[in-house]
Amino acid sequence: MDVLVAGAHGQVGQHITELLSQSDHSVRGMVRDDGQVADIEALGAEAVVADLTQDVGHAVQGCDAIIFAAGSGGEDVWGVDRDGAINLIEAAEDQGLQRFVMLSSMNADSPEDSPEALREYLTAKAEADERLRESDVTYTIVRPGPLTNGSGTGRIEAGDELGRDGEIPRADVAQTLVTALPVERTHGRTFEILAGDTPIQVALEEL
Ligand SMILES: NC(=O)c1ccc[n+]([C@@H]2O[C@H](COP(=O)([O-])OP(=O)(O)OC[C@H]3O[C@@H](n4cnc5c(N)ncnc54)[C@H](OP(=O)(O)O)[C@@H]3O)[C@@H](O)[C@H]2O)c1
Repeated sequence: MDVLVAGAHGQVGQHITELLSQSDHSVRGMVRDDGQVADIEALGAEAVVADLTQDVGHAVQGCDAIIFAAGSGGEDVWGVDRDGAINLIEAAEDQGLQRFVMLSSMNADSPEDSPEALREYLTAKAEADERLRESDVTYTIVRPGPLTNGSGTGRIEAGDELGRDGEIPRADVAQTLVTALPVERTHGRTFEILAGDTPIQVALEEL
């Protein structure tokens, strides 16, 4: 598949871009800053400059799938985490893309369970996720707990509601998003992930 990575220069996004460039997929890394193009190319990807808050049609053109790993970092949750994501979902619909894999967050549907400072962000993520579910693109919504920079283990726990706290390395989140692309069991599904004991491919096939 030709895969567009939104947020390709982010911490998770760089893992995703590198994994895809080493796979059978083609990868196009989307950045909003010209100065990041060389870094994306160094990861083995084609780069495209586009901002989620503006027209993104040229970034999506010719792609089969999108992995969304962009985020506002709390700066503009409504403009980026909600409306920027929806902008890209609508571009995917307009151009008839097959697949959209969304990096969401645990507690998106229950912001009241998180500290006040995170609630607007989580609500914005939930509204973007809802728009994706209503779209005609085959979606997968992945909701990790807090991210760490620890080494990837290749193992996770995945489920509709894990019912526990925990963390997960960014490298394993990236591997999960990439692995999910062709796994039919993940189509039309929203699920949580944390660090765990099950190999990622197996965890997704057993969802
Ligand atoms: N942190 C956690 O514990 C946690 C837990 C669960 C889920 N998540 C989700 O995981 C996401 C990825 O995490 P991360 O650590 O990789 O974040 P990150 O390093 O901050 O990466 C976010 C990327 O999004 C890009 N971006 C922001 N606004 C954009 C725009 N308008 N158009 C295009 N790109 C834009 C940023 O580009 P610039 O370099 O130009 O700013 C950056 O490359 C988070 O955003 C969050 O939604 C995080």
